[in-house]
This record gives sequence, C-alpha cells and structure tokens, in this order.
Amino acid sequence: MKYGHFDDNRREYVITNPRTPWPWINYLGNEDFFSLVSNTGGGYSFYKDAKFRRITRYRYNNVPMDSGGKYFYINDGESVWSPGWKPCKTELDSYECRHGMNYSTIKGVKNGVEAEALYFVPLKTWAEVQKLTLRNTTNEVKKLKIFSFVEWCLWNAATDMENFQRNFSTGEVEIEDSVIYHKTEYKERRDHFAYYSVNEPMQGFDTDRETFFGLYNGFDEPQTVLEGAPRNSEAHGWSPIASHYVEVTLQPGESKDLVYVLGYVENAQDDKWESKNIINKTKAKATIARFDTAEKVDVALEELKAYWDKLLNVFTVKTSEEKLDRMVNIWNQYQCMITFCFSRSASFFESGIGRGMGFRDSNQDLVGFVHQIPERARERIIDIASTQFPDGGCYHQYQPLTKKGNNEIGQGFNDDPMWLILGTTAYIKESGDFTILDEPVPFDNEAGSEVSLFHHLTVSFDHVVNNLGPLGLPLSGRADWNDCLNLNCFSNDPNESFQTTENKSEGSQAQSLMIAGLFVVYGRDYVELCKTIGNFAEAERAQKHIDAMVEAIKLNGWDGDWFIRAYDYFGNKIGSKENEEGKIFIESNGWCTMAGIGLEEGMVAKALDSVKERLDCEHGIVLNNPPFTKYYIEYGEISSYPPGYKENAGIFCHNNPWIIIGETVQGRGDRAWEYFRKICPSYTEEISELHKVEPYVYAQMIAGKDAFKPGEAKNSWLTGTAAWNYYAITQYILGIQPTYTGLRIEPCIAPEWKGFQVTRKFRGATYEIEVRNPNGAMKGVSSILVDGKRIEGNIIPLMPAGASCKVEVLM
Ligand code: BGC
Repeated sequence: MKYGHFDDNRREYVITNPRTPWPWINYLGNEDFFSLVSNTGGGYSFYKDAKFRRITRYRYNNVPMDSGGKYFYINDGESVWSPGWKPCKTELDSYECRHGMNYSTIKGVKNGVEAEALYFVPLKTWAEVQKLTLRNTTNEVKKLKIFSFVEWCLWNAATDMENFQRNFSTGEVEIEDSVIYHKTEYKERRDHFAYYSVNEPMQGFDTDRETFFGLYNGFDEPQTVLEGAPRNSEAHGWSPIASHYVEVTLQPGESKDLVYVLGYVENAQDDKWESKNIINKTKAKATIARFDTAEKVDVALEELKAYWDKLLNVFTVKTSEEKLDRMVNIWNQYQCMITFCFSRSASFFESGIGRGMGFRDSNQDLVGFVHQIPERARERIIDIASTQFPDGGCYHQYQPLTKKGNNEIGQGFNDDPMWLILGTTAYIKESGDFTILDEPVPFDNEAGSEVSLFHHLTVSFDHVVNNLGPLGLPLSGRADWNDCLNLNCFSNDPNESFQTTENKSEGSQAQSLMIAGLFVVYGRDYVELCKTIGNFAEAERAQKHIDAMVEAIKLNGWDGDWFIRAYDYFGNKIGSKENEEGKIFIESNGWCTMAGIGLEEGMVAKALDSVKERLDCEHGIVLNNPPFTKYYIEYGEISSYPPGYKENAGIFCHNNPWIIIGETVQGRGDRAWEYFRKICPSYTEEISELHKVEPYVYAQMIAGKDAFKPGEAKNSWLTGTAAWNYYAITQYILGIQPTYTGLRIEPCIAPEWKGFQVTRKFRGATYEIEVRNPNGAMKGVSSILVDGKRIEGNIIPLMPAGASCKVEVLM
C-alpha cells in the first residue's frame, strides 16, 4: 500500500494520507539553523547542535507518536482544525503534504477553507520561515481565528528533559509588537535568544503553556483555541511557549498570507541589552524584515530551489528505470546532504542528545556529497582530522558546536582511522585540490600540535600496522565498523553501555577481518596517493604492509567457502563453519571481496555465492546467519538483539553495497543490480505499510528473515546507507569514477540494460556520457570516443574548466 507518490518534476514526495505508518519527515536548513518537520507538522528546530542549542521542544517516544511541533490551529466557527490533520485530528476534506528539497508544504481543506503551510529555512538565514496561505473557496464570508504554536526548549535538550526542579523556575519571555522572544538564561551566561514573529498585528497571544492548553488538555484541544479567545498570558517559569492569535476575514474567493519567522540570535557580550532587562533585538528585527511579505518569502524559496538545482545538476542519469533515476538524481543525493549536515545526531530515531558527529560515519558520508559541495567537504575533513591523536587513534565522535572530541563516547574503535584516508582521497579525486594535504591540522584540537593532513593519513595507516594481533590481522579494539561486536567488553552489568565500558584489550587476540579488508582497500588508495604526489619511498613502505595483510587474510581469514569475520579475545573464530550461530557475516565478505582478495583463486566468487546462499533474502542481505539466539558475553551487544534485528541478522542496509561492489569486482552486474533494488526505497514504495518508514530515503535497518516481522524498516534518514548506495550505484554500477587524472568509465550493469546516459560536471567541465550495451554485456568497455575521437584505456582525460564534451562508451 502507498500513502502518496513521487513528483519528480518538482522533486517532491507527495503524501496524500496523513495516517502514514510512521511520521514521514523532512529536513529544513543545511548550514546553521535546522528543523525537522513531519508530514503532520511535528518536529523541532535547533541551531547547529541538536543537544546544546535546541530551540523548540520535542518529546520522543510519545503517545501518540510525534506529538508537539510547529502547529497552526484554525477556529472557523464551525470546527477547530489544523492543515496537517494533527494535532486536532479533525477529519479534513482533503490533505496533502509535499516534502521537497529542504522545504515542506502541508495543506488541509475544511469547510471550504484551504490552509497551506509552507516551511523552510532560507539560505544563509538563522530562522525558519513559515508562510500560511488561507483561501476561501466558498461564496460566503469566512471569519477565521488563527492560533500559531511552538513550545520553547530551555536550550540544552538533555537537561530540559530532566532538571525540572530548576527548569520550572527559569523560563522568561518578552513580547513586543507581534514578536514573542524566548530569553531564558540570557541574563546570565547565554548570549543567544530565540523569537517567533508574525507579519500582522496580532489580536492576542499566549506564552504560558498551561494557560494556552488548560492543564488537562493535550495538543489536540487547546482551551484557548476551542474557546476562540487567547488569554495574553506571560510566562514566568514553568513552560514557555509562543502562540500568536490573528483574526482573518476572507471574502468569497479571497486569500491571505501570514508569514511567521522562528529565529535565533547571538549577540556580543557587550551588546546584549537594549536597556535594563530588555534584550537587544536589532538582529531579530533585521531578519524579520527580510521576510515580512509573502513576495519576499517566495523569492527566498526560489533561491533555495535554484541552489538545489545547482547541487543536483552535478550528476544526473537517465536509464530505463524511472525508480532508479529518481533516487540517483534526487532523493539519494538529498539524503547524502542531510547525513552530511547531521551525521547521526537528530532524526526521529536519533534524539539529538546522544550522538554527535561520528569519525567513521562522517568520513563515509563524505563520498555521498563531496561532488555537490567540495568546499564544505574540505572543511569537514579538517574538523574530523583535528580530533585525531598522534598515534592515529581518534575520538569516536565529536560535538558539532565545539568541534571537540566527545570523551563520553570514548575511543579505541580500530577501524576509525582508516576512514580518514577514504574521506581525503575522495575529496582530492573530486576536486583535484592536493593542497589540502599540506594543511596544518592539530591533534586532539591542541594548538601547537599541528602537522600536515598528509601526516594524519600516515598515522591513520600506521595505526593498523602498529596494532596487529598474533595472526598478523588487525586488532579490533573496542569494535570495528560493527559497533556491536564488542570482543573485549565482557559486560555482565545491565547498567553499563557496551560502547563505553572498560575495553579489556590487554592480551586480547580479538582481530577483525573487516578491518583487514578495509586496510587493503584504503591502504591501496594511500599508496596511489603517495605515488601521485611523488612520495615513492612511502608508497613502497606502505605496499609491503598491504601485501603482508593480503597474505595474512588468505592464510588466516579464509574458511573454505567464505571469509571469517573475526577472532575473539581467546583466539577462537567468529563467522566460521565451526560456529554454531553466526557462521557467516556480511562485513568481512564485503570488504575482502571489494579488495579482490583471492580473485584469481576463486575466493571472491565463492564468498559472494555463500553470501547469496546464506545471507540474502526477499528484503535484502542480512548481517549474519544463523542469528544469535542467546547472549554471548564474549561477543557483546550484537548478541543482545533479538534475532533478525539490527546488528544481529538484521538487513543493515549500510553494508549491502559492500556486497554490491564486491559483485562488480567479480563482474556480476545482474547480482549487483538485484541487490541494489531490494533495499532501494523507491522500489519498496509499494510495501510502505510493511516497510513503515519514508519511501524516499534509505533506512539503516530492515528486519531480516529471522525477525518477527521481516521487511519492517527502522532508523530512516541518518545512515551511512545513503552514501554507500550512492557510491555503489554511481561509481560501481553506472561506473563513473572520479580519479586524480580524469573520469574513469567502468560500468557493471544488468545484461538486459541497453545502455544509459549520464551528465557529469567534474572539475568545472561537463561530460555528456552515453553508454551503449547492444550485446547484453555486464562489464567491460570495448571502446570510448571523446568528441568522436577514440581514447586509450577507460579514463577520460580532464577537460578545461568551462568546456563540455561528448563521451560515447560501447560495452
Ligand atoms: C553507527 C555506525 C556503525 C553502525 C554499525 C551505526 O549506528 O553510526 O558507526 O558502524 O551502526 O554498528
């Protein structure tokens, strides 16, 4: 069952039934000010950091789900309703939500009145702008009472939820003209406040939550709205909110726009006050003035759309598969941009409190957006590398506001350092900017400790070399990519976190074949980079370590039909025939096949066939099989999940592309394509009822074949799945790969594909690429013509910036 449809021309997903199986959300803003908005108007806003600068409040895991948000209540004399159906839940005559690129519109029609709320964060603006358009479609005069609503969060989203003995006494607001200012704690150490304005004189307002709702009422029945009369309440402590009351009279056929601005301001310490206890509102007023008419709002929305046109025009594809094209051209790229902005911090599954920017996550995300915004990728790489330690180890996460390593989450995840090589080489291949390697970058953000970024890559590489176990394989440390395979944890205390409890690695033999494969893949990238910049001695040194790793994998990592997953603390195999549960895992088989280890000897094909046989199912490839059915103290969190979920045999969509890429190494385009489709959201749109989460973005996990409800997805939006699938489809299936010297063309497609076209902007030039596959090949390019001239090999040389060329590829 579907709950809407794609509108590709407008780059929107159109939801036509508000009762989606889960809130289907969108993200507004992509630089400093951010909002999450659900299809019924739920969600919240923050400035830069979802934990420390939470502007509006949100309650997770609420009943009903997704309660609280940016609401408009309409009292038309007959009914009280909201354009998004919720929170009033008054049955609407029609409903439509359109989620677009960083904007959403929610439209409801009731009793002949159409109300459409547009939400977006204009470019370079610290505010969310909302335009409420009211239209009278009847022949009678309509008198409408419009109440807006947001609930302020007391800034720190964590303490906001727990420290009520203080919170209930600190709230402060100011009301001036049609603007409600939230200034809690501004008097003391904060230099920031928030505001909510409307571009009309208001006939009343409320800022005290209990006065607005009545103590015994929920979001669906605010007392003031039901009575049609605001109380003009001024919050002192308790829970401050902002609600404007505006009366609108509409003649038959008439329409009217109200513009609301929800903004954030920072003032310099010596510029905080206008007069005693009266905040300096200059900046707020300037922003409000920028959007005080509907026309100005429309212009800002057009600018946002033009910005997205530009981002999405860097790579466009045309195939015979509409569902594929809309993912590659629109939604997958959009999701990559969102994961760039948020890492794993704020979604409807991530509270915005627990996790900051992940070291490994952010580096992987980079391959999904670097072509869109290379400058910001550059900045991100420097930020990430600045949290590294001199020995190459790193904090697992850092806080976006301070950009400092987050010690609460700890360190010692031994795959982390290698991802920096991926992030950096991906950036240079895209941009050609080798100067980043000379950039001085500190360790642990300590001024004076700066070394070149290239040196950071060297210590990343050496972190693996210096942490090898008895079998010559990488020690896994706290965990490798699989955060939940905690081989040195031995936790028997339910009150401690698997991620941060003591890492008992002394004398441990826990070694990871996933890191081993990763090391070979990105180690080779490191070698190629060294050679490209003329550092041949370093290339040679590194190559020796890679060769040794390949040998160690063949010797100690092969189980006969697939690659072993790991060795545990005691040196016992994990992911082997010898195991009763967890005989085979996806990660090591993904990375070792991507690395092409044993390709000639048939190991790659064999490993991939074992994956097909044992891990593949209707909804995707599960992480391991058979699932763990009891708690293994020596494996940690992975065995804490019920079978079929998350890291215990769930379909962890992040790593399905590793197998897809592995299949392209083997040249099996049919398998790669089959796997790609299984987890691709536009292909699962038809089963939205089962799938539950948004059909326009990837989810981190789909319940696996051993789960209670296979096919049910969770953790949509913020997942490395976005970048990895984009990377797999564009660079390995369509096969358009940026390299240091040009664009490599190496498609690996399903034999029934007759061809496809790609327009790729690369280092300032435009490449119009047409691939033809008349003979039903899966891989292998037989000739390439650039502007009619045949080239040697499959790398199209760089064109001068501004130029464009026609590339004809015959498979
Ligand atoms: C984390 C990743 C991790 C993955 C697998 C995700 O939630 O963000 O860093 O690799 O889980 O455990």
